[in-house]
Amino acid sequence: MKLIFLGPPGAGKGTLAAQAVRMLRIPHISTGAIFRSAIGAQSPLGIKVAAIIGAGKLVDDATTIALVQERLAQEDARTGYILDGFPRTIPQAQALAGFSVVDRVINFDLSDAAVVERLTGRRVCRNCGVNYHILFNAPKREGVCDSCGGELLIRDDDREGAIHKRLQVYRDQTAPLIDFYRAQGLLVDVDARPPADTVAAYFKRAAGLD
Ligand code: AP5
Ligand code: MG
Ligand code: ZN
Repeated sequence: MKLIFLGPPGAGKGTLAAQAVRMLRIPHISTGAIFRSAIGAQSPLGIKVAAIIGAGKLVDDATTIALVQERLAQEDARTGYILDGFPRTIPQAQALAGFSVVDRVINFDLSDAAVVERLTGRRVCRNCGVNYHILFNAPKREGVCDSCGGELLIRDDDREGAIHKRLQVYRDQTAPLIDFYRAQGLLVDVDARPPADTVAAYFKRAAGLD
């Protein structure tokens, strides 16, 4: 199954994708995670995108499209994938249509106020990348990852200014994809407000996995 997870920052795309790929046995391809690992490794790509991501802006389409095209050409993505955070612009969606045919687009629906609450409380493991939330999904020991004991950090773009920029970028450049995919009959809306387990149940129904 080839799925796109579309939605505002902090809607829970990464959290649900981590759960869904275990069930579906397909790769979770998050462009944001690929960029963050490049930044961590200080690779040429990481050096190029670090300031852009820290400011909450989008990386340019050409760079992002090339990255995804290369990733989808790998063997493990042949029969299915979850694309989390791509496409994010109409040109990205048009390019994707040229090299892959998606089955469904899951549209996460969440208000701006809830986005801010989720992003300001998010903590991410420095080691393994698992997400926590100080209120909704707290680690057993404050600041320490349950799975690997790694240190929990605040993402660079989860500061107030970058969050508002990301929301604005989402509205201007990414939200138009809702109509783009709805017109193709591919879009399924998922209410992203309830607790993560309920959202996962909604997703199963939306993806026809029930
Ligand atoms: P990316 O990493 O994709 O960030 P994003 O879209 O802003 O989304 P987030 O990862 O912040 O949120 P999420 O929806 O995954 O939520 P999460 O599950 O963590 O992109 C980062 C940057 O990279 C972009 O700004 C851009 O610069 C660049 N980039 C990436 N893709 C690009 C592209 N295609 N083109 C150009 N540039 C690109 O959940 C959030 C929090 O809420 C967590 O704390 C979690 O524990 C909690 N939570 C999750 N679900 C629930 C729930 N149901 N109830 C309560 N709490 C919950
Ligand atoms: Mg994410
Ligand atoms: Zn960890």
